[in-house]
Amino acid sequence: MIIARTIDELQKVKREFKGSIGFVPTMGALHQGHLSLIHQAKEENDHLIVSVFVNPTQFLEGEDLDSYPRREDADRKICELAGVDILFMPMIDQMYEKDELCIGAPAIRGYILEGEKRPGHFDGMLQVVMKLLNLSGATNAYFGKKDAQQLALITQMVRNYFMDVNIIPCEIVRDERGLALSSRNMYLHGDEKERALCLSRSLKRATKMVMAGEHNAETIKKEMLNVLSDADEVEYVAIVDREFNALEEVEIGNTIILVAAWVGKPRLIDNIWI
Ligand code: PAF
Repeated sequence: MIIARTIDELQKVKREFKGSIGFVPTMGALHQGHLSLIHQAKEENDHLIVSVFVNPTQFLEGEDLDSYPRREDADRKICELAGVDILFMPMIDQMYEKDELCIGAPAIRGYILEGEKRPGHFDGMLQVVMKLLNLSGATNAYFGKKDAQQLALITQMVRNYFMDVNIIPCEIVRDERGLALSSRNMYLHGDEKERALCLSRSLKRATKMVMAGEHNAETIKKEMLNVLSDADEVEYVAIVDREFNALEEVEIGNTIILVAAWVGKPRLIDNIWI
């Protein structure tokens, strides 16, 4: 495995590649969720690039940029074992210059739900994903469904800018009790681990209601809020279509039910595709 810290190093190795390139962008602190993306990308492509870059432009003032978990050695070992060809770990000056040209999240979809709670987050995320997709020359790029709105916006960016890359949505990985894996779960302590399960429980409850024939979004959301009473604060419960338009009635095959809530220190998100 080659570790590339500069753009030149990355391009030099990439130039030797023949065939398809799978790409998994990450912010590091790799867990089983990332690993499932990496395994899928490995299986479906001739070459595999993983990036680890804690992108400052997608953190808002006062968010956890400085304390965001950094585990370079462990990440390196995990990638090596998974058969990654290039681990791209760029330094900040490689990625940004002063007075940059910026792309922005769309005015509606980019500013609801996560975009409303974290205004500007998606601008920074799209900016770095555009750079990383261009740098990697990916044929196929892999993103988790857990960040469903991120995934929808990246898919839209690729469509709007005619980028020549396939965006591959990957299933959410959960622990044995149902908690969606996230690097921020490591901030959960004591009873918070137990209480954090209310997010996935609320989604299970919603799914059961839909399966039993209840399709009214307001009724489902009300019931989810009851299940979410173990969270410290619920930021939103939403029922949208796959393009992130709000739905009054669940449409089977075209619906995402989402939740964001604080449990102790971390803000957690989860969702289910119906
Ligand atoms: O999902 C993430 O880890 C990040 O938002 C991404 C896509 C790597 C961009 O920094």
